[in-house]
Amino acid sequence: MPTVSDLIQLGSRNDRPKRPEPADLQLKFSDKAVAQLDSLRGHYPEEKACVLPGLWIAQREYDGTLSPEAIAEVAHRLNRSFAEVEGVATFYSMYNTGHAPGKHVIEVCTCLSCHMCGAYRVADSLKEKLGIEFGETTEDGLFTLHEVECLNACDRAPLIQVGDEYIGPVTEADVDKLLTDLKSRPERSSVQISDEIVKVHLQADEA
Ligand code: FES
Repeated sequence: MPTVSDLIQLGSRNDRPKRPEPADLQLKFSDKAVAQLDSLRGHYPEEKACVLPGLWIAQREYDGTLSPEAIAEVAHRLNRSFAEVEGVATFYSMYNTGHAPGKHVIEVCTCLSCHMCGAYRVADSLKEKLGIEFGETTEDGLFTLHEVECLNACDRAPLIQVGDEYIGPVTEADVDKLLTDLKSRPERSSVQISDEIVKVHLQADEA
């Protein structure tokens, strides 16, 4: 007889990334990253508001993934607790807090509107053709597949996101062509996307 936690797959404290001890913290931000974070501090009335752009800088500086060390550095530099910054980083699907992502990150929205319009049929087709489950990357490193909450474009349901591009509505009949098209596209890496978003945040300084 399955337990409740079997059925709803509750996480455990052991699933959480291990926080580095403060004494082991090694700061990795480049001079450019430190200057950008300092500049961004001036955009907001308090440092707490700088956590989101700080995480984009960290995602760029830490090769596209927010490791516990990257999260700890943001927390240290913005005088926040590790738990607070980790909570923000793991809440938003735009940040990579798991393993290093593949060349193309496909995110399938399965919230209500997308669910009603067939998101799980699209997801099942992607899983079958890629041979992976949500949260996994194909062996060739080309594709990572994630399930995400509402992407705030429900009028395009069922919607998927690839990198920073919304694609929808999609059906399972579109999956083959989508994967073929993506294979021929140049990579827009997580580092590139993060850097572009940092620049957008900094634009107010240049105006
Ligand atoms: S429910 Fe999918 S974008 Fe809103």
